[in-house]
Amino acid sequence: MRYALMSDIHANLPALDAVLADVDRRADAGAVYHLGDLVGYAPWPNEVVDRLHERGIIGVAGNYDSTVATHYKHCGCRYEDPLQEELSHRSYAWTLEHVSDETKARLAGLPFRIDLRPLGGHAAGPTLRLIHGNHALNTVYVTSDRSDEFLAKMGQSLGVHHGDVVAFGHTHKPWHRVVDGIHFVNTGSVGRPKDGDPRASYALLSLDASDVRVEFRRIEYDVERAATAILDSTLPHEFAHYLRSGGASLATL
Ligand SMILES: [Fe+2]
Repeated sequence: MRYALMSDIHANLPALDAVLADVDRRADAGAVYHLGDLVGYAPWPNEVVDRLHERGIIGVAGNYDSTVATHYKHCGCRYEDPLQEELSHRSYAWTLEHVSDETKARLAGLPFRIDLRPLGGHAAGPTLRLIHGNHALNTVYVTSDRSDEFLAKMGQSLGVHHGDVVAFGHTHKPWHRVVDGIHFVNTGSVGRPKDGDPRASYALLSLDASDVRVEFRRIEYDVERAATAILDSTLPHEFAHYLRSGGASLATL
């Protein structure tokens, strides 16, 4: 079974469409899921949610989705200096103001996690858990430098075992590690990469009875179209440069 997993689209429609076109070219991608953070930072929140709905792509609630849906006091994002904090608040206020009632209802309906049994569960084989942050909160950053103990505990809390897969996003940087035989896969971000590479990131996961393979895809898209749309909007203009630089500026936003 092959899965295309995409996370942190963040209202970037050109990036999402480029990724979907790549998935369509891969005739062997059996099922497509998103891992949350559909909105925030770019000017197409409703269009992104509509596109996923049209395509029948379901997924889990990112922090931006559940905070917008519930009108929480902030987006659940981390910021490390006053400028980032201010820009983050402006993005959240902009998004709250521009999401339609229908979009809000769809965000509110997203599940916290999705459990998949690629081989049906009748015979032995890997299972797959989809979450946004970690097992308990969609605001926890599971970065590639987390300890083996941290990841093992996360696996235990999710009830996974040797050979299983846990897939997530939230940090906007793709990585894959195996701890106690459990695969931890961060798909990176479709619409707001933070690893210095502006191309959209998603993961193709192949699972069979005895093997798990992970392929990270980086997809060129029309970054200038997204940057221009940000500059033409009342979103912080800094976000345009952020997309152009792949998050090299304001790296923790
Ligand atoms: Fe995100």
